[in-house]
Amino acid sequence: MKTSLKDKVAIVTGGTGAIGTAICRQLSDSGARVATNYRSDQKLKHWQEQNKGQSFFAHKCDVTDFNACKDFVAAVEKELGPVDILVNNAGITMDTTLRKMTWEQWNTVLNTNLDSVFNMSRQVVQGMTDRGFGRIINISSINGQKGQIGQCNYSAAKAGMHGFTMALAQEVARKGVTVNTLSPGYIATEMVMAVPEDIRKQIIAQIPVGRLGTVEDVAFVVDFLAAPEAGFITGADIAANGGQHMM
Ligand code: CAA
Repeated sequence: MKTSLKDKVAIVTGGTGAIGTAICRQLSDSGARVATNYRSDQKLKHWQEQNKGQSFFAHKCDVTDFNACKDFVAAVEKELGPVDILVNNAGITMDTTLRKMTWEQWNTVLNTNLDSVFNMSRQVVQGMTDRGFGRIINISSINGQKGQIGQCNYSAAKAGMHGFTMALAQEVARKGVTVNTLSPGYIATEMVMAVPEDIRKQIIAQIPVGRLGTVEDVAFVVDFLAAPEAGFITGADIAANGGQHMM
């Protein structure tokens, strides 16, 4: 069966990053009108040059700021219409072992990766339930499922995202709204390339398919979960990790 997102409005947070860009393109290819936030004017300019020919709507918004998220969603609704699909993709790492981790490193990662999920979902959930359709997709991580040395902050935030998914999925299940987590493994992005090479090689050796994931591997699953036909999948945590971690 061919799925379609024609006439759907989608927000992808962190859409100017590597995975975010692939998700924006995939949802747009499926027919959705796509919006994202950005933080840096310079990064936006570069991203728009890379995405010439695409008609993505971009709005400046720091996802750690609740009121900024409110303004962002209002701007998207004014420009594109009510939001049908929210992909909470914005995320950062600040890796270091706990004995060295500062409060700022803890707090910044929790604010960006977890508080943002509340800040954005809170703006769209009422409209989705009122209209009887919605898709919220939280981009977590294999390291929220299994933990990772040097990522107490990131793993806690990513595991927290799935707790949020399961709770909200139950709240809105009868209203046509699904809420799911997607947990990618190690994807060939700048974030993973920042891991020291020797450690990265050890990690790749643990991936049964024998390679890092691609951004398209992730975008494909988002597109699948966003489809109207995926209405019976909710509260799930879908792994796309090349077999590195099997639950
Ligand atoms: N296995 C076992 N022990 C390890 C280890 C490992 N993989 N990595 C570090 N250690 C041990 C070291 O041997 C050392 O032990 P001793 O103190 O007994 O000598 C100790 O931990 C190192 O501790 P330090 O506090 O000195 O840490 P460090 O400065 O050497 O750096 C690190 C540690 C920053 C965590 C580094 O190991 C690292 O970058 N690891 C990779 C983290 C990672 O996978 N991040 C994922 C980023 S991508 C992403 O997050 C996307 C996604 O969703 C998948």
